[in-house]
Amino acid sequence: MNLPGAYLHIPFCAHRCTYCSFVALTGLEHEDRYHRALVREIVDRRAETDLPFDTVYFGGGTPSFVSPRLLEDALAALRGGAGIGKDAEITAEANPDDLDSARVDALRSIGVNRLSMGVQTLSDEELPWLERRHDAAGARRALAMATEAFPRVSADLMAGIPGQTRGSLAESLAGILASGVQHLSVYLLEIEKAPRLVALQKERPDLFPGDDELASFWEDVHRTATAAGFVRYELSNWALPGYESRHNLKYWTAQPTVGFGVSATGFDGRVRRTNTGSTNEYVKRVLEGQSAEAVRVELSEEEATRESILLGLRLHDGVTEESFGRVTATLSRGDRERLEDAREAGLLEFSRSGRVRLTEKGVLLSNEVFSAFV
Ligand SMILES: C[S@@+](CC[C@H](N)C(=O)[O-])C[C@H]1O[C@@H](n2cnc3c(N)ncnc32)[C@H](O)[C@@H]1O
Ligand code: SF4
Repeated sequence: MNLPGAYLHIPFCAHRCTYCSFVALTGLEHEDRYHRALVREIVDRRAETDLPFDTVYFGGGTPSFVSPRLLEDALAALRGGAGIGKDAEITAEANPDDLDSARVDALRSIGVNRLSMGVQTLSDEELPWLERRHDAAGARRALAMATEAFPRVSADLMAGIPGQTRGSLAESLAGILASGVQHLSVYLLEIEKAPRLVALQKERPDLFPGDDELASFWEDVHRTATAAGFVRYELSNWALPGYESRHNLKYWTAQPTVGFGVSATGFDGRVRRTNTGSTNEYVKRVLEGQSAEAVRVELSEEEATRESILLGLRLHDGVTEESFGRVTATLSRGDRERLEDAREAGLLEFSRSGRVRLTEKGVLLSNEVFSAFV
């Protein structure tokens, strides 16, 4: 049985990093009202699922920045409904700057058993461009504390930071792997929604790694992580076997999730619901007893299958040849030809066990494959 996952958005950060456009307020001025609203929303929506959650994911924003009581009360509200499974994966995203032993103990004692740390880089030359609060030594200390205290720790690493080189990325990765994390997410720095980085790129294009360099970064990360026993189970995610993010796998395999909090999204296999992206409006609506839902999209069966192929191709295991064939039959002739070209160019492989997946080369050029489906 596919048990649902719960996503809870915690929209507070101590400081807005240069590159980030996630829904988050700076400071804790509105924490109390948000705390009340989040718990109320969970209680009000209890009836939506009668199955227990087997994953809970506190994302943000920065869940490690707010009072652990907020997370504790949200978990209690989830338990009061259909409940949380005994062996549920309970993840909290964390900023290295927030982690001291008191915070680590508090998170552990309320039931968090997986920490996802935003490290980004371990280079003190690169961190200032991102306006992170911590320096590299602070991030190393936090990683050591996290891996000591939690059975599962993931680190986010960025590729494409101004000034980053193959050497500096290798050093950041080596530091992260040496800390004992079992999971790694690597994100390409996106600057489109970050005006200050867009301006910097105009002024100093030399600081930004080019496309070929980025491709070699990606290959280097894959080689090093593989040598350390990690498996790339999704385009941007590597894990030691058994340490994959069970929550994120739900998104990639279109399993049910329920989203609580500002901007949170949930999906029941057919309908995707997203809450308002304004924290002020979210709090107001929920505390007045109204729904915070802002967008509801019902996918047709064809759209749902097409989306499941797009998501499935991100995974190492790919998708079944049968479902791939069913979806490609609905594409235009031009798109089918593009997929055939991608196969001939060695981007897609059809295995003997009846599965279709991206090759190593296909991972680097995944957009060429995905564009046939959108
Ligand atoms: C919610 S944050 C993680 C927790 C905590 N707020 C922190 O930053 O340490 C989620 C992650 O998204 C990634 N991210 C955010 N904005 C990004 C961007 N513009 N480009 C690439 N990655 C981004 C970062 O790697 C970040 O660690
Ligand atoms: S990257 Fe994390 S800490 Fe920085 S602004 Fe975004 S959510 Fe906040």
